Amino acid sequence: MFNDFKLMDGRPAYVQVKDYIKELIYKGILRSDQKLPSTREFAALWKLSRNTVITAYRELEDEGLVHSVAGKGSYVSQEVVPAADSARLEWKEMIGDCARTAEKLDLMKHGVRWEKGMISFTSIAPDEKLFDLHNVKRAFLDRMSLEGEILLNYGYAKGYKPLIDYLLRYMETKGVDLAGKDLLVTNGFTEGFDLVLSAMRKTHRRVLCENPTHNTAIKLFKMHGMDIEGISMEDDGVRLGELEQALAEHAFDLAYLIPSYHNPTGIVMSPEKRMEALRLFGEYRIPIIEDGFNEELRYSGSHVAPLIACGGSGNNVVYIGSYSKVLFPGIRVGWVLADRELIDYLESMKRARSIHTSTLDQAVLYQYLHNGNFEKYIKRARNAYKRKYELAVQWCKEHIPYTRLSGDGGLHLFIELNDSLSARGVLDACVRRGVVFTPGDIFHTDGFGSNTFRLGFSRVSEEELEKGIATIGETVRQLMREGF
Ligand SMILES: Cc1ncc(COP(=O)(O)O)c(C=O)c1O
Repeated sequence: MFNDFKLMDGRPAYVQVKDYIKELIYKGILRSDQKLPSTREFAALWKLSRNTVITAYRELEDEGLVHSVAGKGSYVSQEVVPAADSARLEWKEMIGDCARTAEKLDLMKHGVRWEKGMISFTSIAPDEKLFDLHNVKRAFLDRMSLEGEILLNYGYAKGYKPLIDYLLRYMETKGVDLAGKDLLVTNGFTEGFDLVLSAMRKTHRRVLCENPTHNTAIKLFKMHGMDIEGISMEDDGVRLGELEQALAEHAFDLAYLIPSYHNPTGIVMSPEKRMEALRLFGEYRIPIIEDGFNEELRYSGSHVAPLIACGGSGNNVVYIGSYSKVLFPGIRVGWVLADRELIDYLESMKRARSIHTSTLDQAVLYQYLHNGNFEKYIKRARNAYKRKYELAVQWCKEHIPYTRLSGDGGLHLFIELNDSLSARGVLDACVRRGVVFTPGDIFHTDGFGSNTFRLGFSRVSEEELEKGIATIGETVRQLMREGF
């Protein structure tokens, strides 16, 4: 006994000794009234200072697990009831439809597998090499010294007040009429979206969106038991004729649109189409969830106002923003800006479900933004991404025989191959050559898109960018020659 103790670096030794003995007691290896070795023996066996072992024994005494008898030594106090095997359930049979759907559609488990060393175009996360860590550290210290302990206590469901005020001002600078509107801070876009979907009455169980669209949105619609009608896209956004026809033929509970740097196509909806879509949805009295996740990643062209700004004093647009692409996805902060009445309900749902988003995260983010870092960071990030974007477009044009390439900005491009080609077939061949990307069918609402794929370039180095795109191009050409 006692020979398997291993000391790990960094954690106080007395805590490790205490935990080790505690585990022996709980497992029934050390029994009630069994004498423990003297602190001197223990210390010698483990090459520790005697004080370390004395402190560990004292803590075990405080917890009532050990007692000392004057002149004799330390003894185990407590007999731990040995674990009896309780019932074994078949969890697969106890799981509901929502969790089944989530598991089935979980790309992390069932998506493309890639191994270290491969060139991966699957991610559209920001490149962490661009993060200005020193400013984040400074923001943390600034906020902590200003507010201290209070940041570690419970906060408010609606969010951290200074951040709410900052975000309201930020949205105002995008041209949003804030009268009658309010804002809720969420754990990124995804929680905000899930909250809105949960809050809404689903009379028709049917939703309208772009086709293709954000895979997480498809997953959540399905988890909420909703049917999806996707509207195909032109170079300047959804096909209005198709949208008009869908609206005339079916009733919908809501619409979901990503007007700027759409995922996966990268398309920006034109101002004219924005106005026309607003008019149509208004006519049919359908709420629009606007996903503004990528709005800041514009490399060329003129600024286009979000739908919620185009809608003036109307209240049918629910805007969901996120700092996941334009700043740090690890700080899970997003927000919902919408009619005050809706936000009031969402606040109660948020309180019921997760109480609030981490106050510490919100406060550090607020201080980072307040210190003026965002403006500097986004300028630098935009320059770096713009270069990669331009190189990616240039190399795709040079190497890949595509039929359509889209992406007006953001962190990815979308490619359509000849109808007869399967992007998954190309992917299988590319994986063997050390390159992975995301097949486009996962973004489609109707099972189509087998000849499409998304190329995320944000985290790929320039050398890998060219090498990877050239490999994809060669693979496509080879498959075309072989008649696939
Ligand atoms: C279309 C779209 N919206 C929003 C997000 C961001 O989600 P979150 O803020 O939950 O990280 C992403 C991330 O990939 C996305 O592709």
